[in-house]
Amino acid sequence: MDTAANIVEQPANPVYDKDEVVIHIKGLKKSFGSKHVLKNINLDLKRGENVVVLGKSGQGKSVTIQCIVGLLKPDEGELTVFGEDVALMSDDELKQLRNKIGFLFQGGALYDSMTVRENLEFPLTRVLKLRDQNEINKRVEEVLDGVGLLDAIDKMPSDLSGGMRKRVGLARTLIVNPEIMLYDEPTTGLDPITSREISELILNMQKKYKISSVIITHDMECARITSDRVVVMNEGEYIAEGSFDELKTSDNEIVRSFFKEQS
Ligand SMILES: Nc1ncnc2c1ncn2[C@@H]1O[C@H](COP(=O)(O)OP(=O)(O)OP(=O)(O)O)[C@@H](O)[C@H]1O
Ligand SMILES: [Mg+2]
Repeated sequence: MDTAANIVEQPANPVYDKDEVVIHIKGLKKSFGSKHVLKNINLDLKRGENVVVLGKSGQGKSVTIQCIVGLLKPDEGELTVFGEDVALMSDDELKQLRNKIGFLFQGGALYDSMTVRENLEFPLTRVLKLRDQNEINKRVEEVLDGVGLLDAIDKMPSDLSGGMRKRVGLARTLIVNPEIMLYDEPTTGLDPITSREISELILNMQKKYKISSVIITHDMECARITSDRVVVMNEGEYIAEGSFDELKTSDNEIVRSFFKEQS
């Protein structure tokens, strides 16, 4: 029912088709010299879906997401985002694409000399070219509230804990309303309680804004909380795919090894 209240609460991406494939990867290959990192990567990410990628260190998880945003060029295979071939995009088109994709780097990467508010204003004025200060204030406050940090608006990053910085980093990525989020190890270096909070935040963001996400993690609690679907990457390929609970009882020993510490 389209009540006024519903309209106000509409997510950032109102045209919502859950069967739409937002990222399509087929037969993706990428080598560095003689090192064949990606041998055959296949993945379809659907609108509104959270896919967790598990894999040992150095398997090419980060390389895969760098291919998705066009920072690295694959050697072979299909890679489309919103139906467009990333390899064929001009610099301008890549820029536009990156405005629709939020990329949460491991470190959070805030500007240390700016307050939290200024950190959040930056993408609004630089990326979206917003000028209306009221609109800017409203969006900054809204997104900070969303990550539970409205109190920290005038603080410097150095006054925040690691978990809070991660939240601000997430807020700064979310403030431009990305349709896709790529999380590279969002909970690394955080204590279990803070990790859990960040994982729950990722889940809430998916629910609230219908964002489609690829979440790379070693943190099985994060995988359990956030995933609709899990893929396991090994030696340049995805060797298994399923729900968290399905993979937990997989026949494949490599797959099961990730779940060892889970009860
Ligand atoms: N730009 C590059 N040039 C050369 N080699 C690279 C480049 N980027 C990544 N590699 C190599 O590709 C392999 C996969 O790296 P990648 O960072 O994707 O691993 P990962 O699965 O993300 O590992 P981790 O879990 O440790 O983050 C590594 O051996 C790495 O050295
Ligand atoms: Mg990595």
